[in-house]
Amino acid sequence: MVFYFSGTGNSQLAAKQIAGVTGDEIISVNQCLKDNAKKTFHSERPLVFVAPVYAYRLPRVVERWIRETKFEGSRNAYFVLTCGGNGGNAAAYAKKLCREIGLEFQGLASVLMPENYIALSAAPSESECAAIIERAKPVFSELAGYIQKKEPFPASPSSLGGSLLSGPLHILYYKLAIHDKGFTVSDTCVSCGKCAQRCPLNNIDLLDGRPVWKGHCTHCMACICGCPADAIEYKSITKGKRRYYITEE
Ligand SMILES: Cc1cc2nc3c(=O)[nH]c(=O)nc-3n(C[C@H](O)[C@H](O)[C@H](O)COP(=O)(O)O)c2cc1C
Ligand code: SF4
Ligand code: SF4
Repeated sequence: MVFYFSGTGNSQLAAKQIAGVTGDEIISVNQCLKDNAKKTFHSERPLVFVAPVYAYRLPRVVERWIRETKFEGSRNAYFVLTCGGNGGNAAAYAKKLCREIGLEFQGLASVLMPENYIALSAAPSESECAAIIERAKPVFSELAGYIQKKEPFPASPSSLGGSLLSGPLHILYYKLAIHDKGFTVSDTCVSCGKCAQRCPLNNIDLLDGRPVWKGHCTHCMACICGCPADAIEYKSITKGKRRYYITEE
């Protein structure tokens, strides 16, 4: 069973690529979070968690969801993280998570996909994004091959740099930067409601047709990047920047 969380579409695409090979059912963690109901899943096939890297680890919201969800059947868990450049030492934390909740860690692979974090850096050009995605597709298929054969992923090497990024820097970054205080909306808003619909945490209400952010954001970038009118900005950091958003192929 393939579970994905995705802000702007990379991890959704990865999940589809993997499930295309393994034939697994795909479950949207975004939808599960939106529904806000404790769930039980039964799968005799390995569990595959696909998500973006957030501050050099699995997004906290995904880790929490995995902890709060009941998985019956197979105990084997694979992690496929899409990243913009550096997954740090995310594997060590996924392994620890598995140990704590009684799953058998089968490996974590970080796969380069287009950077979506426009509240911090810039997304590549459209053509670069297309090229990055084309390079990633065979990697997803290769990873799916390991899952099919029920073999663990090759171990990813840990490093001191990675440990610092996924340890202290991760904690500091979440504390200082992951919040929604910087979001604003301009007059180009057409009141379509897509930002509210797409927010996996139901963190956006529409007030007089305009989004208001309610203070429990995970910086997934779905609202700002998925707005059809480019009406949302994050502080002044995103002004003039290309938005990156895919839903499916
Ligand atoms: C809050 C946030 C934090 C991120 N942190 C990292 C990071 O630590 N390392 C990295 O390589 N990419 C990082 N990225 C980039 C995403 O992991 C990458 O673009 C991912 O493929 C986005 O997946 P999605 O489209 O499924 O949301 C971050 C993106 C966001 C939104
Ligand atoms: S997605 Fe954009 S245009 Fe639509 S309601 Fe939200 S801010 Fe307005
Ligand atoms: S408010 Fe926007 S960035 Fe924050 S979690 Fe919701 S969609 Fe993602």
